[in-house]
Parts: sequence; structure tokens; C-alpha cells
Amino acid sequence: MSVLNQPLTFEGRTIPNRIVFQPMEGCDCNSDGTPSDLTVAKYENAARSGAGLIWMEANAVCPEGRTNPGQMMLTKENLPIFKDFVASLRKIASEECGINPIIILQLTHSGRQSIVPMIAYRHPIYEEKRPVTDDNIVTDEYLDTLPEKYVNSALLAYEAGFDGVDVKSCHGYLFQELLSAFDRPGRYGGSFENRTRLYLDSVRAVVAAAPEGLLVVSRLGAADMVPKPYGFGTDEKNNLDLTETDMLVAELMAAGIKMINITIGNPYYNPHINRPFRQGAYVAPETPETGLARFITVQKHLKDKFPGLTLVGSGLSYYRADLMERAEEMINLGAADLVGFGRGSIAYPMFYRDWLAGKFDVRKCCVACSKCTALMRAKCVSGCAVFNDYYKKLYKEKVACQK
Ligand SMILES: Cc1cc2nc3c(=O)[nH]c(=O)nc-3n(C[C@H](O)[C@H](O)[C@H](O)COP(=O)(O)O)c2cc1C
Repeated sequence: MSVLNQPLTFEGRTIPNRIVFQPMEGCDCNSDGTPSDLTVAKYENAARSGAGLIWMEANAVCPEGRTNPGQMMLTKENLPIFKDFVASLRKIASEECGINPIIILQLTHSGRQSIVPMIAYRHPIYEEKRPVTDDNIVTDEYLDTLPEKYVNSALLAYEAGFDGVDVKSCHGYLFQELLSAFDRPGRYGGSFENRTRLYLDSVRAVVAAAPEGLLVVSRLGAADMVPKPYGFGTDEKNNLDLTETDMLVAELMAAGIKMINITIGNPYYNPHINRPFRQGAYVAPETPETGLARFITVQKHLKDKFPGLTLVGSGLSYYRADLMERAEEMINLGAADLVGFGRGSIAYPMFYRDWLAGKFDVRKCCVACSKCTALMRAKCVSGCAVFNDYYKKLYKEKVACQK
């Protein structure tokens, strides 16, 4: 049996197989944060895809932390809608695939990428793209209020029927930016202890408040690949330096995190690192293979260093024809326990079931063209603009005509 089909026991729960539907924000929720028809359609595909773990997209813990007006946001008021939504996904997965997937909700504060930027510190590199002023710097007093907001969202997620929550720190959003706030004064800047304080306090608060059975996991940006002192997990020459990443993972594990979904880079600044592409808005300064090898290096390093950690690997969608072999290899090499598919999952949601049935069709695979991101950056709803007619038309009308 392929390793991809083997169930995995995690914290007393069974993940039916190793396939993870990665968080893929569609910017398509209703203004009250509830899933729209487009959001529902994407997750119904996830439920019928056979993936053992559905890692639902960025869900804002507070209105000011939303990156766009269509971002998901579970609240006390809209809880009944989320309850029905999660229950309907379980029903589809059970009826169509005979499995009960683990469903995680990703909790986020978008920080610099919020509708009104809320930044940790002045960042000369990121600000070339999105100018801000000192007024955008969040105060310590504001940051002090956030762990409670994460707890509220986690408790709501439990009531909604999610199996777990992800206290997310990656992709340059608030927690991740704080990790490199070397020059920020006060309790949240300077020392390693201060820079990691909010992330770890939030994790500890969520773990302490979590009802029996609610999983608490994290998506972590292991390295920003932005030169120190403006990036985390990276040295002054922009090489990987995992010294502090190791320290942080040790703290996360001590706080109760046993599963980490690894990602690298900042999609707003160096997207080729986060999701190696074949066509994008610029020519990447490295080959996609260099980026893919970096994922393996970082993940293998963390798996070797922290044997008790369950790790989700990322960045695979680029592979097309070799997709499943590379995914198997990632696990067999000891570089991941579960394998995540982002763009690949929205381009070809049935890839795993087709592969199981011997019908894997390379022509349906993600072409790594970056159109899903281009839609997002054009402030549209986002989906696969190659294989889904709705997004294809939207891309033609809203993005292609601007070029
Ligand atoms: C349109 C789009 C939306 C995304 N939304 C999220 C998100 O909500 N949360 C997150 O952690 N990552 C998000 N990502 C990153 C993906 O989860 C994934 O890490 C990345 O696409 C690389 O994996 P892949 O090669 O399988 O696509 C998004 C990526 C894209 C292209």
C-alpha cells in the first residue's frame, strides 16, 4: 500500500490518509464572514476529494484583522451557519468517500495585510509595495488583547464542529511579522522571548481553553527568506538560518503543539519561494527546483530534530506528472508525515481519488501559472482560472484585460 493511503493516528484521532487539502483563501465569503456559494463549492470539492485532512482557509479572529471584506470570519452570530456547513462537509465525505476527515480551521490576524494595515514595525522592504506610516504600528496594549480573541474563535470553532484550530504564524501576517521585530521597543520586540511572545501566549491560551478533543495545531513560516533584521529564519545574506526556528518549534511543542504545517517565504514579497511557479508576475531569481529542495531541507531538518512532531509538507503542486511520486517521496524521506496540496487541490480536486482509481490525469493538474493569486491581488474572488470556467471568465474580464 502506498504510504499516502496509510491512516495516521494523531492525538488519539485517526487521519484516514496522508493527503491534506491546504488552506486556500478564496476571498469569497459573505460580508458577515459566512461561506458563500463559491466557498461552499470549494469545500464540497474538498470533502469529496478523499483528503484525510481539510485545513480550512484563513479565518479572521476579529474584523480589523481581515485581509479583505470577503475573508472568512466565524462569530457568535453566524455560528449556526458554520455548524451546518461543517456538518454538510462531513456528510459528503462519509457518503462519497466513506471517511471522516479531520477538519481544521485556520485562525489569523492579517496584520500588515489587513484592510487598514496593522504593522509590527516599519519594514523598508515590504513598504516598497504597500506604503504605511508610523500610525499603522499596533500598540502593545492592542496586542495584549489578541490571545483572548484567538480563544474566542477557537471555542466557536469547537462549537461549529471543527476538529481543531490552527494558530497561524506565516506569510508575513501579524504573528509572523512580530517574529522579526528586532527593532520594536517594548514587550513584543527585540529579544527572542519578546518577538515570540504574542504567538506563544496565544497558543498557550488556546491550549488552556480548548475543550477536550479540540486539536490545536499551527501553520508556521519556518523562514521568511527576507534578510535579517527584516525576516525570521534567515541570516543577513538571505540564507536559511534555522537557529531561532528550532527554538520556536521547541517552545511550541512545550506549549502543546504537536502538528505543524510548514511553509516558507512571504507570498506578497517572494511568492516563488512559497509556491514555485511556471508563470508569474516576474522572473524568479532561483529555479523552482531550488525552492522545492528548500522545502525538503527545512522539513527534514525539523522532523529529525523533533521526532515527536507531526509535520505537513507544502509546495508540491508544481510537480504535475510527478505529483504523487514526489508526495510519496516526501514522506518516505522522513521530510513529512502528511502532504499538503494547495493550488493542486483547487485545480484538480479529484486528483487523489483518480489516482487511487488508476485514472490520474496529468492534463487536469495545476499548471502553476499564478492566476489564482493574480485574481486575489486584483481584489477578486479567487479560484483556478485554468480549469474552472467561472474563474476563467473572471480572470479574462478583470485581470487579463489590464495587462
Ligand atoms: C490563492 C491562494 C490562497 C491561499 N490562501 C492561504 C490561506 O488562507 N492560508 C494559508 O496558510 N496559505 C494560503 N495559501 C498558500 C497555500 O496554502 C500553499 O502553501 C501554497 O499555495 C503552496 O502550496 P502548493 O504548491 O501546493 O500550491 C494560499 C495560496 C494561494 C495561491
